[in-house]
Amino acid sequence: MRPIKIAPSILSADFSRLRDEIHAVEAAGADWLHVDVMDGHFVPNITIGPVVVEWVRKVTTIPVDVHLMIADPDQYAPEFIKGGADWVSVHPETCRPNPRATLNKIRELGARPSLVVNPDVALSNVEDYLTDIDMLLMMTVFPGFGGQAFIPDVLPKIEAARRLIDQKNLSILIEVDGGIKVDNIKEVVSAGGEVIVSGSGIFKTTDYADTIGQMRKAVG
Ligand code: DX5
Ligand code: ZN
Repeated sequence: MRPIKIAPSILSADFSRLRDEIHAVEAAGADWLHVDVMDGHFVPNITIGPVVVEWVRKVTTIPVDVHLMIADPDQYAPEFIKGGADWVSVHPETCRPNPRATLNKIRELGARPSLVVNPDVALSNVEDYLTDIDMLLMMTVFPGFGGQAFIPDVLPKIEAARRLIDQKNLSILIEVDGGIKVDNIKEVVSAGGEVIVSGSGIFKTTDYADTIGQMRKAVG
């Protein structure tokens, strides 16, 4: 199986101790930090803005992976990149006039662009943009909240994305996000997931190193 990257989502961290939480997952073997940005418009929840990303960037050396669940990524993506985002994922339905312009802007500003596929969105909706992205983010929950149940029906779509990327000989990472824990990470990776986001699956456990170790062991 391909080497995987574990990306804890800080949405489930204790925000009163965010720096300690970040250092704890880093020490526990996290490869990236996943940052969930929600604006109360595209999704019915409000989380964090560029100022937090700026502080996160200052206390970590690993890649900062920003997932924008916002109505206007064209307006705000530049601020997150300025704040230090290494990767920026956008939902195609929020990009104006189409994802290509948004993705190219993200790259031009120095971050790696990624498109998100919601559980009810067909791969055909993003197929035209595969040459514009470095990563495809497959959602295994409907975006909006941490701690939701994994939707296994998405697994065949992850397999199809893997086949499509391999057939076209593209070097695009597949990230999978939502409800991933020690007990289901193997099926996600077997389907083709490489960057594994886990919020509650890591931060709601007591020993992060043990949890991340178990995740790696589960995938072999
Ligand atoms: C959902 C977010 C996810 C979420 C993951 O809207 O995009 O990144 O925080 O959290 P868990 O792993 O708890 O589902
Ligand atoms: Zn996310």
